[in-house]
Amino acid sequence: MKKIKTAIIGLGRIGWQFHLPELRKYSDRFILAAVCDPLQERHLEVQKLCDAACFCDYLDMLKTVRPELVVVASPTHVHAEQVIAVLEQGGDVFCDKPIAQNLSLADAMIQTTRRTGRKLMVYQPHRATNIAVGAREIISRGILGPIYMIKISLSAYVRRNDWQAWRQYGGGMLNNFGAHAIDQLLYLSGGKVKRLRCHLRTIATLGDADDVVKLVMETEHGLILDLDINMAAAYGFENLMILGKHGALRYDDEKKAFMLRIYNPAMLDCGSASTELATKDRNYGNAEKIPWEELSIPVSNYAPVNFYEKVYDYMALDKLPFVSLDETREVMRIIDECRRDSV
Ligand SMILES: NC(=O)c1ccc[n+]([C@@H]2O[C@H](COP(=O)([O-])OP(=O)(O)OC[C@H]3O[C@@H](n4cnc5c(N)ncnc54)[C@H](O)[C@@H]3O)[C@@H](O)[C@H]2O)c1
Repeated sequence: MKKIKTAIIGLGRIGWQFHLPELRKYSDRFILAAVCDPLQERHLEVQKLCDAACFCDYLDMLKTVRPELVVVASPTHVHAEQVIAVLEQGGDVFCDKPIAQNLSLADAMIQTTRRTGRKLMVYQPHRATNIAVGAREIISRGILGPIYMIKISLSAYVRRNDWQAWRQYGGGMLNNFGAHAIDQLLYLSGGKVKRLRCHLRTIATLGDADDVVKLVMETEHGLILDLDINMAAAYGFENLMILGKHGALRYDDEKKAFMLRIYNPAMLDCGSASTELATKDRNYGNAEKIPWEELSIPVSNYAPVNFYEKVYDYMALDKLPFVSLDETREVMRIIDECRRDSV
């Protein structure tokens, strides 16, 4: 099995807590040759674990180590510059989300990838969870009937106080959680967005970037994708709901299960609506009983996708990328349009 000479840029929350341990776990496929972070105390932590070379400057690291693959886990506003430098040096990149601060930088990265013939894939973990895998499988069964709406809500009350609170660093909830949730909505719907409306607000955060996002998108097939990211919500929202003509699914985080309320349309007669302008017996409503069936499907029935296996499949074995550049661009195009729409 080919081992890919790999480096990580950025040893923060995601670089240190996820990328580094995963690369070490898959030591049959990846050699962690180097790491880069301006904070030297983070080098000491790495040196306690392994013999990766440590650098403060990523250009110095690229020149000295010439990694075949670089995992970019630095703050968002430096992704574009770093990714382009790696690609120009002949390396491939696994970049954390969002790919960049805005669409024009993302386009420059994508164009450089295509021109150099290198590979670039973005880490979009929300499409890899067992919730996403399970929801897709249940949708594909057709038991909800034609799907007309998917709603995702991420809510909490947080006075954000790190770099993600600031616009100048590519922070804000549209870029941060939006890159996850928009990707997940597109992945579940399989559709292309034809129009959207977005409202961005800055409410509880201690910085200047958005912490409330209300986004409604419509796909080419008329499916409504409804997203709330609300970090100023004293009450939480339902995390995931999928609504179809014959029932609905919601994800219950406490039960760790998909809850479904569905009916079989063959159990109802066709029915008809009256056009009389005086309702019968002065009664509105339809007394018919919908033959609801309630199901609970544990999310543990589904296995999450292992991202680093997908990284290896793409980077070393030339399989199709789990996250394509077209999909990545579409997320950034939507984020860009949200900003214009909400002004
Ligand atoms: N995919 C996910 O689930 C997920 C989760 C968290 C963060 N992220 C993304 O990962 C990136 C990093 O976020 P984080 O939460 O780990 O941030 P963080 O603040 O915890 O860590 C950032 C790290 O990068 C280092 N750094 C700062 N400037 C640098 C530079 N110019 N070059 C190299 N390193 C530099 C810092 O010293 C720090 O160690 C962001 O783009 C963020 O959106 C993704």
